[in-house]
Formats: sequence, C-alpha cells, structure tokens
Amino acid sequence: MEVTPFKLANKTCLSLSPNFILPEEKRPVLSEVFSLASIPIIDLNDHDIDDDGQGSSSLVSKISQACEEYGFFQIINHGVPKELCQRVLAVVTEFFQLPPEERAQFLTTDHTKQVRVLNYFLKVEGQGKVDMWGESFRHPWHPIEDFTHLLPKNPPQYREVFVEYAREIGVLMDRLLSLISQGLGLEKDCLKRKIGERPTLYSQTNYYPPCPDPELTMGLPAHSDIFALTVLLQLEGVAGLQVIKDGKWVPVDAVPDAFVVNLGDQIQVLSNGRYKSVVHRAVTNKWLPRVSVAMFYAPNNDTEIGPIEDLIEEGHPAMYRNYSYKEFMEEVDRQVGIRRRIPVTGQQWAKVDSSNGRQVSNSQTMVQSPARDKGRGKQRMATETTELQQIGT
Ligand code: OGA
Ligand code: NI
Repeated sequence: MEVTPFKLANKTCLSLSPNFILPEEKRPVLSEVFSLASIPIIDLNDHDIDDDGQGSSSLVSKISQACEEYGFFQIINHGVPKELCQRVLAVVTEFFQLPPEERAQFLTTDHTKQVRVLNYFLKVEGQGKVDMWGESFRHPWHPIEDFTHLLPKNPPQYREVFVEYAREIGVLMDRLLSLISQGLGLEKDCLKRKIGERPTLYSQTNYYPPCPDPELTMGLPAHSDIFALTVLLQLEGVAGLQVIKDGKWVPVDAVPDAFVVNLGDQIQVLSNGRYKSVVHRAVTNKWLPRVSVAMFYAPNNDTEIGPIEDLIEEGHPAMYRNYSYKEFMEEVDRQVGIRRRIPVTGQQWAKVDSSNGRQVSNSQTMVQSPARDKGRGKQRMATETTELQQIGT
C-alpha cells in the first residue's frame, strides 16, 4: 500500500533522505532491545490510603523501589477516566493530522514562546543536524484558563478536552508527589513544597509517523527529562518508548489504561541522588503512527533546588549544589547539542552518572553543605558521563 509521506509543520516531507538518517553509532539497534525486563506496573488502587491519610506502606514501598531501581513505572487504576484519555489521544492525533499550514501557525524559533510546535534534531559531529522522525507540540497546562485562548482552535474539541485533562492530571500529580515524598521518608507534602507553590506546568504531545526503516531513525533521541516529574499517556498498543536499565535499552509496553511516570532531573537532585532521572528515547515503527502526551511538572525560575536536607546524612553527603531553576535552564540552553550537566557539589566538579545518580569521579571531592555552597555561584556545572545528546529545536 502506498502511504502518503507525513509533512511536518515546516513543510518538510518525512522521508529517508540523508538528513533523517542517523550515523551508524547513533542508531537504535532495535534487534538488541529485548523485552525480558519491564518497568514495574503499579496499581494505585492497591490500598491507596491508610486510615491516617498516609499512602499505604505497600504502595509507597512499591513506588519507592521503582523510583530507585528504574526511575520509571506505569500506573493503573489512577482515577483519570479512560474515556477522557481516549479523547485526549484523539484530539492530539487529529491536531497532528491537520494540514501542515494549520500547524505552522505554532512554529517559532523563539524559545520563550509558550505555545509552539517543535521539530527535534540531534547535533552530530561532522554531519551537522539530523532531524528526528516526528513532531512535537508544547504548551502550558496550568493554570489552563490563562492559556486556553492560545491553544489550537482546530480540532474544535482541543481546548475543552485539554482543560478537563489538565484538571485530572493536576490531581494525579499531587498524589504522585505525595507518594514519592513518602517513599523518601519525607512528609507527604515535602516535594510539592520544595518544587514550589507556582510550578511550571507544560505538556508536550508527540507524533511519530510510521517509518519505512526504524533502524535508521529515532523519534526522540536519548535524553533525561529536565523537569521534576512526567506523566505520559501513550496510544494503546503502539510501543516506542524505551528506557535504560543496567546499561541496556528496555521497551515500555503500551499497556491499556496506564500512565508512564518518570522522575526528572530535579527530583534526582532533591532526593540527593537516591531517585534517578533515567535516560530514555522514542523509536519509530513501520506500521502505525504513534502518539504520546507528556505532562511535565517543574519548578519555576526563582525556585532554589538542591538536595533536601533530611536526605543529607553521614555517609551520604550532598551530591549536588543548590542552584536556581533559572540557572539550570540557562545551562540546559547552553548545552543544546552537547552533553547534559547537573550541578554537583564539591571543589572539583565530579562527574555524575545519570544512569545511577552516583558520583563516578574518583577525584578527592570536597563536599560542601548546601548552605555553604550558596555563595559559590561562579562554579561550573559538572559533566555527566552518559553519552547523552541534548535535543534541540
Ligand atoms: C518526552 C518523551 C517519550 C515518548 O516527551 O520527553 O520522552 O514516548 N516522550 O514520546
Ligand atoms: Ni522524555
């Protein structure tokens, strides 16, 4: 069957032309991805709340274990109506299937624009940019009333569906932050307080058309999420998300009625490295378009992030220095196309391995307490060891 090639908002046709083909060492090598391991699937109905209003100890410990071992898990019986999830996926699919001119109104190179269509690429040494096989659309989801007028008019149901979805995801995020806090042995509102009263809440919807040869392309290159927490909805039965586990890529099954939850860089730092912001990627497939809806929860620019004091202990000193989220985001912007960095604590800038959150440098790292770190604004951020290519727009 002859398939009409997908046209990006910028009118480029998706085809296996050289600018979409990854150099050999960056290809996904799908034949080596085994689904033997799988990220945990956690039932949130599993004795959700104890009598005292705390998450039940078994649920908290399941989540805590998943956060420590995988940085990723799926949740079922999460309380968000199935029918609403289906409507969200339907309007998002419809949006990406609008004629490119319709989507082009959201194309911009201005990174400060709150609503925009993005086309990701990977900077490859000696080759320049390689375009990813897909398109993404980003906009705020809270307080959604302030942004509704900026959202697409087409498809006509987009706005009302997103308003409803944002409300449900807000409730779910609070519940997850509470369970994750308790998993760290903290008060249930601790993470939410640390991330701040006015979090930055963005959604990113992703559309990956079928690709004639998925071994040559990638939907999203390997990255960790720079925010605090992500709740991702994916089209049932169309897999493509893969995460690193013990140095190997593991597929995340597209389980019916589940959300994928993953921790971002900010929770890795807040948890003092106990929980990890794990590297993941989206690969393409030959047969079906794939749609995903990522809802991000992040601090705002003025928020100071650093390891939570209760998690700094003898034998487990602060692994990161405090920084403002604005500083972090500026560093992320500077790093487009190169490796990711996280500010670690210390005189020498020890490397941090984001696959396990541990410092890997053998250098004599002089560990600072977060308080003493505050005046040390001029220090550089340390390079992570992961071969993580920053994705850019
Ligand atoms: C993301 C992401 C994965 C996917 O949007 O950050 O990792 O499956 N998406 O689309
Ligand atoms: Ni991601």
